[in-house]
Amino acid sequence: MPGVFQTSPDELLKDAETAAEAGVGGIILFGIPEKKDATGTEGWASDGAVQQAIRLLKKELPQMVVISDVCMCEYTDHGHCGILENGEVVNDASLELLSRVALSHAEAGADVVAPSDMMDGRVGAIRSALDANGFDNTPILSYAAKYASGYYGPFREAAESAPKSGDRKGYQMDSANSDEAMREVFADIEEGADAVMVKPAGPYLDVISRVKAETGYPVAAYQVSGEYAMICAAAERGWIDRERIMMESLIGIRRAGADFILTYFALDAARALRNSN
Ligand code: PBG
Ligand code: ZN
Repeated sequence: MPGVFQTSPDELLKDAETAAEAGVGGIILFGIPEKKDATGTEGWASDGAVQQAIRLLKKELPQMVVISDVCMCEYTDHGHCGILENGEVVNDASLELLSRVALSHAEAGADVVAPSDMMDGRVGAIRSALDANGFDNTPILSYAAKYASGYYGPFREAAESAPKSGDRKGYQMDSANSDEAMREVFADIEEGADAVMVKPAGPYLDVISRVKAETGYPVAAYQVSGEYAMICAAAERGWIDRERIMMESLIGIRRAGADFILTYFALDAARALRNSN
């Protein structure tokens, strides 16, 4: 994707400083391990890339809110968001490992942990693990309404996390259904989520609006890699005005009810907003 790179913790600090200067309030981290295995062991390594990056960022740039993405798919050799048994994702056995990942991020100093795996019961499991280890004050931003989407393609390539077999339809939401998404959202809130996310954002504005209206909770919307890539590609061809469409897409998400937005445009949008003020 244009403008998107895999980075190391020290380079990341420079990018984060640039973002902070532009007025970006927070960043989210995804890790790519040196070695992948069946259970995603590197996901909870205390010296893993994400854990190192969190420690460095919180030390050098404490005002930047650091959110850590909690999942297995970047760390497992099969690329699924939980562990497999006979080729099937096993929900409950995955919860313990996801809890370890979240705890290792909290120990490194993450301000917010954000489980994106979509296993049932993960918010409750992570909440218990955090509380039992003295991290009662670490909030959980749950990817609550996360759809099985074609818009994740560029991310999976960048994070080397596409599933090797099958797809994620067993645990991610069906794009034709918003009632199912609402049930997931309420289940996550019941289990202790502090804020809930809708993902992707642009094609699911009705879901953002429903989640905000029906829960009153802080709602995040994630404008994903495919949404970003399409805008960039069309702009590169001269078919649309990049900055104008960037802002229009973000304003639409905001208008639908998102309290905050995760977007690959964060730096550009922060700069554009500053200039327009
Ligand atoms: C999976 C995960 C996904 C993204 C981030 N973490 C989706 C997926 O591969 O199913 C996609 C983000 C993007 O497209 O920007 N835990
Ligand atoms: Zn995943």
